Amino acid sequence: MTTRRMRTGYAGTGPGPITPDGCAVELYERLPIGEEPDVIEAAVPAGASILELGCGVGRVTHPLLERGFTVTAVDESAEMLERVHGARTVRSPIEDLDLGGERFDVVMLASFLVHAGDLAVREGLLRTCRRYVADDGCVLFQKEGEGWHERAPWERPAYGGKAVFRLASSEPVGDGVRSVQFDYVFPDAAWTQVFLSRPLTDEAFAEALAGAGLSVETYLTEDRTWVRARPVVSAAK
Ligand SMILES: C[S@@+](CC[C@H](N)C(=O)[O-])C[C@H]1O[C@@H](n2cnc3c(N)ncnc32)[C@H](O)[C@@H]1O
Repeated sequence: MTTRRMRTGYAGTGPGPITPDGCAVELYERLPIGEEPDVIEAAVPAGASILELGCGVGRVTHPLLERGFTVTAVDESAEMLERVHGARTVRSPIEDLDLGGERFDVVMLASFLVHAGDLAVREGLLRTCRRYVADDGCVLFQKEGEGWHERAPWERPAYGGKAVFRLASSEPVGDGVRSVQFDYVFPDAAWTQVFLSRPLTDEAFAEALAGAGLSVETYLTEDRTWVRARPVVSAAK
């Protein structure tokens, strides 16, 4: 059962529920934790309140809770959210998130969501980041890696060679947007996600953030995929 109609240009195949952006819930339950919690912990104050946008099954949420952060986890998929434990969960499209006047020390938009193909959606995502970050807080973004699309097709082994993760194709579909197919192949199951991506140069990324009242502060990782931004606070406020 899907919780919302599929987003245009997005699709997914494989066992279990598929989210409107083509993500497979059972795949995200399997994915390893990775470096994300370390990057985040090093970039924000200890014990900060974090608004995590697009949390999925809580792959990153749970380690952040264990490290003493307070997390409000947002996703539009009920099937994803029901797997999140120990955090406050909110089911909503990020673009329409309504938490009243609440503000957070940290707002997080990971998983390349800032590359949304639809400009109105991207603007909505960035508006939400700006709206919920405290004046002295920060927004963390995870961007695509350099040459990600140009190198397609590429693949890497996962789970000690037992699985393969493959960027099968990345085709331009007009207006600076690409249609991307990513495959996750395990011995007992395989999932495919098709999604739209609008690649962003550093300049285009900074410009998009500036349009939403956010300013790039620093790139946090050597591969330049994690970025910390600050809200632009006007003197009159
Ligand atoms: C690629 S998954 C990543 C999940 C999690 N961040 C992780 O790294 O494990 C993206 C998640 O964001 C959610 N999502 C994508 N676009 C969304 C939107 N515009 N509003 C709300 N949720 C969204 C999907 O439902 C999915 O659970």
